[in-house]
Amino acid sequence: MKITVVGAGAVGATCADNIARRELAEEVVILDIKEGFAEGKALDIMQTASLCGFDTRVKGVTNDYAATAGSDVVVVTSGIPRKPGMTREELIGTNARIVETVCKNALEYSPNAIIVVISNPMDTMTYLALKSTGLPKNRIIGMGGILDSARFKCYLQKELKCSANDLQATVIGGHGDTTMIPLTRLASINGTPVSNMLSAETLKQVAADTMVGGATLTKLLGTSAWYAPGAAGAELVESIIRNQKKVFPCCVYLEGEYGQNDICLGVPVVIGSNGWESIIDFKLNEEEQAAFNKSAEAVRNMNGVLSTLVA
Ligand code: LAC
Repeated sequence: MKITVVGAGAVGATCADNIARRELAEEVVILDIKEGFAEGKALDIMQTASLCGFDTRVKGVTNDYAATAGSDVVVVTSGIPRKPGMTREELIGTNARIVETVCKNALEYSPNAIIVVISNPMDTMTYLALKSTGLPKNRIIGMGGILDSARFKCYLQKELKCSANDLQATVIGGHGDTTMIPLTRLASINGTPVSNMLSAETLKQVAADTMVGGATLTKLLGTSAWYAPGAAGAELVESIIRNQKKVFPCCVYLEGEYGQNDICLGVPVVIGSNGWESIIDFKLNEEEQAAFNKSAEAVRNMNGVLSTLVA
């Protein structure tokens, strides 16, 4: 197995590091346009091999797509990250061009690869990747919901003082501060609804904190987060590489599911070696469906901006 991570920034490098530690492939290639940057990150990660006990070879290259040839999965993290006070949506102009070019170049050398999109605004970048490459829909997966769900679990864990590993909690909808939908009704601690243990007010606060989870970190760090986004990317890649059929909320192309069409949005999907293999189309309640529709409207407006950019 071979995995390429495009973008050697903090998210890309952390993702590659997590992939290496999990030994998901014999080779991980990190590619960046900045001369020597990916080479440096890869060498640093390789120097942890004997410390962390992995045999995956991590190689860095400067814009050399030939070195990525034959990759099973390509993770796209390239683009500019947001600065404090910025929304993910404000990145669209710059990142759209980058994501389109990266997908085209990567597919030239890895025509069978599954593409994982992490670049922001993620829902729109996933839609762009799908439309610009013309790949079958199941091979384009946007990673946002896994990260948002991990943040949801983190805030729940703090309130419940339990193990984060005992929590099931899902965030669907867009990967935006106002478009994501933490499904508090369905969150459980090993099957027991958390609504039995936390007040409605606390749950509301947990949901609100989850929604601005990324923005909170951007404010603290001066740039966007990387540990959780990188680990979430690796978690998704693992289910593809090991054909685990895990269910994660991912941004995928909808054709009628959840009442939406011609849009990429976060819903629970089964992830295996074919990419996203099926959508779990369960019935939301009225309030959740209304929030989902509102989220779709916002993402659809953002997708509309693409036609003015990518001429
Ligand atoms: C975040 C970015 C990666 O949520 O979207 O941290």
